[in-house]
Amino acid sequence: MSERLRVAVVGLGVGFGHLAAYRELPDLYELVAVCDPVQPKVDLARGILGVPQGYTSFDELLTNDGIDVVNVCTPPDLHVPMVKAVLESGRHAVCEKPLGGSLADVDALAACERDSSARLMPIFQYRFGRGVERVRRLLEADVAGKPFVASVETWWRRGKDYYAVPWRGRFDTELGGICVSHAIHAHDLLASLLGPIERVYARVATRVNEIETEDCTAVTLEFASGALATLTATLGSARESSRLRLAFEHFSAESSQSPYQPGSEPWTLEPATPEAGARIDAALDGFEPGPELYAGQFAAFHGALARGGVPPVTVADARAAIELVTAIYQSSRSGEAVALPIGPEHPLYDGWLP
Ligand SMILES: NC(=O)c1ccc[n+]([C@@H]2O[C@H](COP(=O)([O-])OP(=O)(O)OC[C@H]3O[C@@H](n4cnc5c(N)ncnc54)[C@H](O)[C@@H]3O)[C@@H](O)[C@H]2O)c1
Repeated sequence: MSERLRVAVVGLGVGFGHLAAYRELPDLYELVAVCDPVQPKVDLARGILGVPQGYTSFDELLTNDGIDVVNVCTPPDLHVPMVKAVLESGRHAVCEKPLGGSLADVDALAACERDSSARLMPIFQYRFGRGVERVRRLLEADVAGKPFVASVETWWRRGKDYYAVPWRGRFDTELGGICVSHAIHAHDLLASLLGPIERVYARVATRVNEIETEDCTAVTLEFASGALATLTATLGSARESSRLRLAFEHFSAESSQSPYQPGSEPWTLEPATPEAGARIDAALDGFEPGPELYAGQFAAFHGALARGGVPPVTVADARAAIELVTAIYQSSRSGEAVALPIGPEHPLYDGWLP
């Protein structure tokens, strides 16, 4: 399969960003439809971006046989039923974070994907950045050596205007606070570099906004490799930034501080020795990363489908992210460290809603 895939985007908030990214890939995708219950948003997408078909009903959209991929960009509580319906209709599904509100949700979607000929790709667009891809290349080339420690900061700012949108700040509709909605990206980026987490100790607090969900967290992690990490996140930082720092045996890496694309350049790589520097230079020689952010993820998805391979971000990746969220809530409530992996016997397997 190398033909253009016909895409529909459902939910026109950040969905406009998805539309813009698909437009950057005209050889791979054809935008055929948008869907949102708010008619003026549908009209805007059709008028400005020239999307041929518009729907105000998701059920009606799914009756359209001329769609290969449905992109779900609706509020979080709608993700699971919508993705399930998309997969059951035989179309590929792309879904914004968080994929679901519990490990049970994500495992059910994984089963749905296994039973379907279609594929499900959760969104983690920060993974597609030239800086972080340089580091990933070094890990794949085995020049990093032992991972020692890492720190991740998600220091953003959100206030009354942001929380004026009714679904935000509530467990039943947003499904959680900063660890579910905001810091999940940078935490996924770290896990994509350092692999499985074995133990989590966390505190969460609501200190910035008058909301039900948490807006500050401090977490420590132990990875299966033995590496250690700290995660801090707040929605009350005067200056917005995201930052990852990682110390390996043979080099240290520090991300850009761009709040919403920490995977992009400039990343700083500092070799521990001149010999390590030479190995790094050799491993990066001729390295040409692809497009970034949503366009990078969508391009890689097309390539994976064309090869019959697995999506560049998988349901297992989303499960790891939701497992960390589950552990953060459990640890913060119990005051104890939480061991991973988490299975159906865990008290928060079916969800962390208070
Ligand atoms: N990856 C990222 O960087 C990123 C950034 C922002 C938001 N998000 C995620 O995207 C999702 C949407 O967030 P947002 O900020 O765009 O929210 P939003 O409220 O701005 O937009 C959501 C849209 O979905 C529409 N909608 C509601 N019910 C619908 C239905 N039944 N069918 C079709 N459309 C429906 C709403 O009318 C609205 O236009 C959330 O899960 C959020 O966490 C991800």
